[in-house]
Amino acid sequence: MKKVLSIVIIAGFIAAMVSCHKNTDAPAGATKLVLPATTARYYNETTQYSNPSINEKATLGRVLFYDGHLSLNNAISCASCHKQELGFADNIRFSTGYEGRLTGRNSQSIANLSGQDTFFSNNFIANPSTPLFWDGRETSVKNLINRPITNHIEMGIADASVLPGKLSALPFYPPLFAKAYDGDSTITSDRISECVTAFLISIQAHNTKLDKYLAGDNTALNSMELQGMKLFTDKYNCEGCHRVMSGQYFMSGFIDIGLDENYTDIGNGAVTKNTSDYGKFAVPSLRNIALTAPYMHDGRFKTLDDVLNHYSHGIQNSPNLNEVLRDYSTNQPRTMNITESDKKMLIAFLNSLTDYNMVSDPKFSNPFKTN
Ligand code: HEC
Ligand code: HEC
Repeated sequence: MKKVLSIVIIAGFIAAMVSCHKNTDAPAGATKLVLPATTARYYNETTQYSNPSINEKATLGRVLFYDGHLSLNNAISCASCHKQELGFADNIRFSTGYEGRLTGRNSQSIANLSGQDTFFSNNFIANPSTPLFWDGRETSVKNLINRPITNHIEMGIADASVLPGKLSALPFYPPLFAKAYDGDSTITSDRISECVTAFLISIQAHNTKLDKYLAGDNTALNSMELQGMKLFTDKYNCEGCHRVMSGQYFMSGFIDIGLDENYTDIGNGAVTKNTSDYGKFAVPSLRNIALTAPYMHDGRFKTLDDVLNHYSHGIQNSPNLNEVLRDYSTNQPRTMNITESDKKMLIAFLNSLTDYNMVSDPKFSNPFKTN
């Protein structure tokens, strides 16, 4: 009896997930926009910003983020590939974009976008952040949205200047722009990207077990997780690149971790044109890592276990392999030989980096509901 019930619940859950995806993928005409009566609080206006109506801008950004009208065929929204329940990443190796085109790399989690150091400054939206994308080809979130042809071809929009006209024809946009811009309902590319940026940067995950532990709650991590933490910081020095303990979660710069002896994707090398940067990719944030499989820039690893097997004994002798991942004496790729019990503890620790509030927070969810 109990078994049957749980199967029904799981079936219902899957059906709900499927319909939710349909929602974001379907033409927005088939859906209805539902926003809360009072503007949700994305930012604390008085202490964080002097940017007027920042919460109204983020609200509008949420609508744009989930709206298929931002793509040429009205079918692909940002959320098609950046799904809230998956830490704003995608659960397949390459995501499907405009007309079935596949992305060249694995979708990135866009929570806690890098550049959070400048995040709390007044002019964050004007401020370029640290390099974006796996290869660092863009530095400013705002430009990233404004330059779809060079940076985000998945939506089929070659020229971002066509969007304002297109969105003006949808009845719900002019009032939302008026709210965000002091009564002025004009839609411009600049405003579109400012609002999407305001929404993106508001997506912050700071409510993990590790955050609680670092804030002084000694009971937040259990003994497995604590042992995993020690292995992460000391024995295997993952912290050397993934700066989890400092709360920063990333490290600037690009690194070759020896995935392939011969590069199939030169990564940052295509941006700098230096052969010494070939095969180097951004150090990913490990926040919500339990939700963002598959892993690496090309999504080659299905599980965290696969990732640990790479560090354990899979590192290849690639030309630009980071020195930390080389054996000092032999100059050969390091073999960490991570034991099965160490793996369990490391994975327990990695699982403690999930913020379940963020992935279920209604203010980050799809505002389009099917009728
Ligand atoms: C078809 C899938 C797809 C769609 C649609 C899509 N993205 Fe992405 N996004 C990706 C992939 C894949 C990457 C990594 C690309 C790379 O590094 O080459 C990415 C990377 C990003 C990044 C960089 C994150 C970082 O940490 O550097 C941001 C920000 C982003 N997307 C925001 C958006 C926004 C905003 C939209 C809607 C305007 C959008 N994406 C639409 C797949 C998609
Ligand atoms: C020398 C720097 C460095 C060290 C040390 C390092 N990593 Fe990484 N890690 C990276 C880079 C760079 C990537 C992305 C590589 C790519 O996709 O090409 C990555 C990717 C990952 C990913 C996949 C993230 C994603 O979003 O796909 C996980 C998980 C991970 N590392 C965990 C670890 C663990 C656990 C350790 C310690 C055993 C460790 N890393 C040590 C630099 C490092």
